[in-house]
Amino acid sequence: MDKPVTRRKLRSSEWFNDPHNPAMTALYLERYLNYGLTRKELQAGKPIIGIAQTGNDLSPCNRHHLELAQRVREGIREAGGIAMEFPMHPIQETGKRPTAALDRNLAYLGLVEILFSYPLDGVVLTTGCDKTTPACLMAAATVNLPAIVLSGGPMLNGWHEGERTGSGTVIWKSRERMAAGEIDYEEFMDIVASSAPSVGHCNTMGTASTMNALAEALGMSLPGCAAIPAPYRERGQIAYQTGLRAVQMVWEDLKPSDILTRQAFENAIVVNSAIGGSTNAPIHLNALARHIGVELSIDDWQSVGHKIPLLVNMQPAGFYLGEEFHRAGGVPSVVRELTKHGKIHNDALTVNGRGIGANCANAALPDGEVIKTYDGPLVQDAGFLVLRGNLFESAIMKTSVISLEFRERYLSTPGDLNAFEGRAIVFEGPEDYHARIDDEALDIDEHCILFVRGTGPIGYPGGAEVVNMQPPAALIKRGIHSLPCIGDGRQSGTSGSPSILNATPEAAADGGLAILKTGDKVRIDLNVGSANILISDDELAQRRAELKAHGGFKYPAHQTPWQELYRATVGQQATGACLELATRYHDIAGLVGVA
Ligand code: FES
Ligand code: MG
Repeated sequence: MDKPVTRRKLRSSEWFNDPHNPAMTALYLERYLNYGLTRKELQAGKPIIGIAQTGNDLSPCNRHHLELAQRVREGIREAGGIAMEFPMHPIQETGKRPTAALDRNLAYLGLVEILFSYPLDGVVLTTGCDKTTPACLMAAATVNLPAIVLSGGPMLNGWHEGERTGSGTVIWKSRERMAAGEIDYEEFMDIVASSAPSVGHCNTMGTASTMNALAEALGMSLPGCAAIPAPYRERGQIAYQTGLRAVQMVWEDLKPSDILTRQAFENAIVVNSAIGGSTNAPIHLNALARHIGVELSIDDWQSVGHKIPLLVNMQPAGFYLGEEFHRAGGVPSVVRELTKHGKIHNDALTVNGRGIGANCANAALPDGEVIKTYDGPLVQDAGFLVLRGNLFESAIMKTSVISLEFRERYLSTPGDLNAFEGRAIVFEGPEDYHARIDDEALDIDEHCILFVRGTGPIGYPGGAEVVNMQPPAALIKRGIHSLPCIGDGRQSGTSGSPSILNATPEAAADGGLAILKTGDKVRIDLNVGSANILISDDELAQRRAELKAHGGFKYPAHQTPWQELYRATVGQQATGACLELATRYHDIAGLVGVA
C-alpha cells in the first residue's frame, strides 16, 4: 500500500488526452462534461476508475451497493482518481427464471464489452449474490485491467423463536417439516422470511458467501472484506478503502493476471474446503481460470482440496451464520490456520500488493467454536470427491455435508464401506420431480437413488439448482430424511444435501444420464470414485444407439434469444460452463506502455 506512485501513461488518455487527434479527443470528452465534470479533471492524468454496479431493485442481495458506491467514490477521489459508475446486467439468484446461472455469461459478456470499450483505467467490482461475483471476476480476467472486488457482505443473522434461520438452508429444512405436516404454509412463509432480516446476500455459507470468500482467498479483495455483514460500519469503511486502493493499483499496474495465478487458485480450493464452500465454486473458479489462462481441472478440486478439514462452523455444513463468522475473524483467520499447516501459498500476491500470508499473519486465532482448529475440525477430509463412470465423465460430491443418518444408512455397510447400490428413479427435470415424487407407483424406498436430468447448462438453460431432492413425504414420516441424489443440474450452496451433481456431460449433451432408465441398478463407490449403471456393455451400446436414432436427448424449446445463443455457445460444468469462444480472448485491454 505504501509503494511510491509512478506516473504511467493512462489508458484513458487515449480517449481524453490525445493532442494528435483533437477532433476525436473533443468528441470523446465533451459529453462527460455535461453533468459537471471539468476538462481539467478529465485531462489532468487522473485514473478513471469504473464502478461496476451490480445493485438494483431487481437484485436485492446487491442493492445496498448503490449506497456503498458513494464511499467507493470518496476513496477514489481522495486517492486522486475519478469514479465512473455504470450498471451491470442484473443477476438475482432467487428471482430470475429459469435460472440465474443463465445470466452469468451474459453479465460477463456485457462487462467485458464495457471495460474494453470505455475510457477506464481500473475497476471496482461490486459483488455479492451468487453469480455476480464470478461474472465480474471473469470479465476482469478477460480484459485484464487493474480490478478489485468489493463484496456486499451477508445479511444479519436470521432468527425465529430463538433459533438461527439461515438463508436457503431454512427453506430446505422447513419444506421437510411442511411435508411431514408439522407446520402449515403461513408458518413456513414466516420462518423463511425471518432469514432475510437486512440488506445483504445469503447469510449462510451458500454460493454468495463462498464466492466472496474465494475472491478474497484468490487475492482479489482487501483482506477481511468478504465476511463483513452488509449493514456493519466496517462495510462502508472497506468500501472507501477499496476505492482508495483501486487508484493505487492503476499506478502500480497491478492486474488480475498478476494475482490470479495457479497458486492463487490452489489457495482458493483449500479455503473452499475449510469453509465448507458451495458446489458451485468449481464451476465458477474453473471458468475464471480459463479466462485468465491458468490450467485448472475438476480433478484439482479433489487432489488439492479433498483432504482439507472443515474449519468453519457455518450453515449448511455447521451451525452459525455470517455475523459470527465475521466476528471470529472471517477468511483471514481461516487462511492463518491453514498457513500454520503449510496449506497456503503465502507469497500469492493480493490486491494490496502484499502476499496473502503476510496479510493474514496477524488474523485472529481460531476460537474453536465458529472457526475450528486444523487439528480439531468439524469434519476431516471436507473437500469434494470427483466421481466418474458410465453415468458421466465427471460429477462432484461435497463430503462435508454428509449427515450422520446418511453415513450410517448408505456408507457403513459392513465390508462395503463408502459404497452403495440402489434402484434408479429418474425424473425429467424439477417439474417432473415435483409432479411425481409422491406417486406410489414409483414405489420409492430407502434403497432407491433419485436422479434428475435435463437440468444442465444446455438442458435447463444455465443449469438448475435442483439436485437436492427431498424423499417422498411417506419416507420422511418414517424418519428417512435423505436419499442419495444424482443429477446433471446443480444445487444451492445453502443445501446440506450430499448430492452427486454437476454431472458432465449433461443428458442434453448426450451424457450417460441420458440413457439411464427408472429401475436400473446403479452403483456408487466413493473409495474409487466410480458411478455406474450396472448393465452390460452390449446393453449400454444398444441404448446409446437408440438415443442417437432418436436424434439425441430432447430438451425444451428456447424461450428467449439469449437462451438460444447461450445453448449454442456454452460448455459443460466441469470446465466452467463458459461461453466457449470467449476463452480465446486474453488480456484484451492491451499494453499502454510507460510514460
Ligand atoms: Fe442472492 Fe443467496 S440469493 S445471495
Ligand atoms: Mg444458488
